[in-house]
Amino acid sequence: MSPNFDFLVTGCAGFIGSNFVDRLVNDGFKVCGIDNLSTGKLEFLKTAMTNKNFYFIQADLFDLENLKKIFPKVDIVVHLAANADVRFGTSHPKKDLEQNTLVTFNILEAMRSSGVKKIIFSSTGSVYGESPVIPTPENGPFPIQTSLYGASKVACEGLISSYCEGFGFQSWIFRFVSILGERYTHGHIFDFYRQLMLHPKQLSILGNGKQRKSYLYVQDCLDGILNALDKTNEKVNIFNLGFDGYVEVNDSIGFILKELNLQPKLNYSGGDKGWIGDNPFIFLDTKKIQALGWKPKIDIKEGIIKTLNYLKKNEWVFEERL
Ligand SMILES: NC(=O)c1ccc[n+]([C@@H]2O[C@H](COP(=O)([O-])OP(=O)(O)OC[C@H]3O[C@@H](n4cnc5c(N)ncnc54)[C@H](O)[C@@H]3O)[C@@H](O)[C@H]2O)c1
Repeated sequence: MSPNFDFLVTGCAGFIGSNFVDRLVNDGFKVCGIDNLSTGKLEFLKTAMTNKNFYFIQADLFDLENLKKIFPKVDIVVHLAANADVRFGTSHPKKDLEQNTLVTFNILEAMRSSGVKKIIFSSTGSVYGESPVIPTPENGPFPIQTSLYGASKVACEGLISSYCEGFGFQSWIFRFVSILGERYTHGHIFDFYRQLMLHPKQLSILGNGKQRKSYLYVQDCLDGILNALDKTNEKVNIFNLGFDGYVEVNDSIGFILKELNLQPKLNYSGGDKGWIGDNPFIFLDTKKIQALGWKPKIDIKEGIIKTLNYLKKNEWVFEERL
């Protein structure tokens, strides 16, 4: 029986999910999206909703019995739904376990009962904790977790690869650096812009501003995923997905302030980490995915400015968080 949809995108109303949906629908695929709108926004799906190739289901993936009932006939699942915020893990220790690990288990079980066998999964560079090897390759060690988010994603990767072994599934697991771009609704640019909107003369920075991070523009991220899906066919395909470079938080602040033409007083909370689980140096080795012929087109500074311009034009995204 041929599937009704080519792709099922979970977390389809989120930052990366809604960009993924638009890309797939524009490429002519039939796409079903599921989201509970906990952090996602229907507004992000406005264009997709007008396309006959897109079908939206509002549902909570934590409810396995319901998920099994509504699960569509589909060729590939793109599992993006998650609690994507690393920073507040210790404020609600169960959330990452439930929304990341258990929801991923639910997706795998719903796939198993519907006979769907291919999954793309959004993991994270946080799985490496504070890696001693930089740039960190896919086979770098990650024995010690520093965040509940990272721990939950390691567990997701483990479940997915076990389903590949145990039930004949095939998976593409991508460990992202921080992603930037249109519809960005969480992360340092969001926080800095929100602060500057309210108080243009001061900016609070978590940590000492010397944290080094790598960022990737969302369309480059999608290109990387789709290219790898096309070119690889192992049982479990694991890739780092990031930019071939990094910046200090202080560099990023410099780009933002120049673009906004502001000179606030900078208040640092101090220390080499901004919060529990903040990794002071994230830089992934992306040779494996680049060997497939993919390369990012947008560098980190351009990505930051594009994100800022998006936020400037769409201040409504801050409304419920102000
Ligand atoms: N944005 C980044 O920098 C980044 C970096 C590394 C990994 N990731 C991963 O990429 C994925 C997408 O991240 P994002 O930045 O787009 O986050 P996001 O918060 O914008 O999107 C997540 C979406 O999932 C939905 N969702 C969450 N729990 C759900 C549930 N129980 N049932 C149904 N829907 C649910 C939310 O409403 C939201 O629309 C996540 O898995 C995240 O961990 C993101």
